[in-house]
Amino acid sequence: MLIPSASAMTEEVTVAPFDRPPTPSPVPTDVAQERPEGPVSYQSCFSMPLSPAELRDKQREYLDAHAYRYGLPARLLFWTAGKVFPQGRSFEFFAFVELVARVPYMAWEHVGHIAQTQNHKDHAFDRKIQDRVVLARDEQDNEFWHLLIMEEFCEKAGYKRRWFLDRVFPQILSFLYYQLSWILYVVRPKWSYQLNSDFEDHAMRQYAQFVAENPEFDSTAWESAYRSDYGFHVTVGDMLRQIAVDEEQHKDHSEDYIRTGARFSRSTG
Ligand SMILES: [Fe+2]
Ligand SMILES: [Fe+2]
Repeated sequence: MLIPSASAMTEEVTVAPFDRPPTPSPVPTDVAQERPEGPVSYQSCFSMPLSPAELRDKQREYLDAHAYRYGLPARLLFWTAGKVFPQGRSFEFFAFVELVARVPYMAWEHVGHIAQTQNHKDHAFDRKIQDRVVLARDEQDNEFWHLLIMEEFCEKAGYKRRWFLDRVFPQILSFLYYQLSWILYVVRPKWSYQLNSDFEDHAMRQYAQFVAENPEFDSTAWESAYRSDYGFHVTVGDMLRQIAVDEEQHKDHSEDYIRTGARFSRSTG
């Protein structure tokens, strides 16, 4: 029997119970082709739901996308993930991915605040840097919802977390990845954006393949405590495709900064 924590006894519990296995339930066909309602409890430039048809087009695009050789740090990261999760694409693997995915945005936000402090007399410049800070916050929040959704699947499936590989190791890796993202952003921002672009491209493709490998996701209703935070996708398949779209947007933002000027600039921000 589970013993509720002290906080659970004193706070109102608003999340749905996690003790049910994710059983497939029929998907109503009359609403399945429309764009679902977006997040109601969280505003973001991400998670703007696409329709099932649009999401399938996006998935095909990602599956058909030309492979390219990622940079060395990204390849090392993906190799490590492969060793820690020999089972490959799975909800526990994606929970790991999403935990790490937030880290560069935290590092960039941090460096942005330092730059604002160092240039505190130049308000116009500080204002431009703030646009990057706000976007970095939005991206890390978006990754946070991805993380909670993946964690929820792990809970429902009764995944037994390994003490070191699922708990300690991801935190150590995130710490190191933060330091790397931070130092690259200070020394040569383009390198930090490129590393993140590689990471996001990889995540986007992994989600697209995960859905392709599991056709039952398209006949499984997505029941989650986070629908009002992330968007009311009807099926698990569409929700995962939407996450892949988010990852593409994250990648595009990094690529945009590489193109228009990675370093903070008084003219472009
Ligand atoms: Fe993500
Ligand atoms: Fe991402």
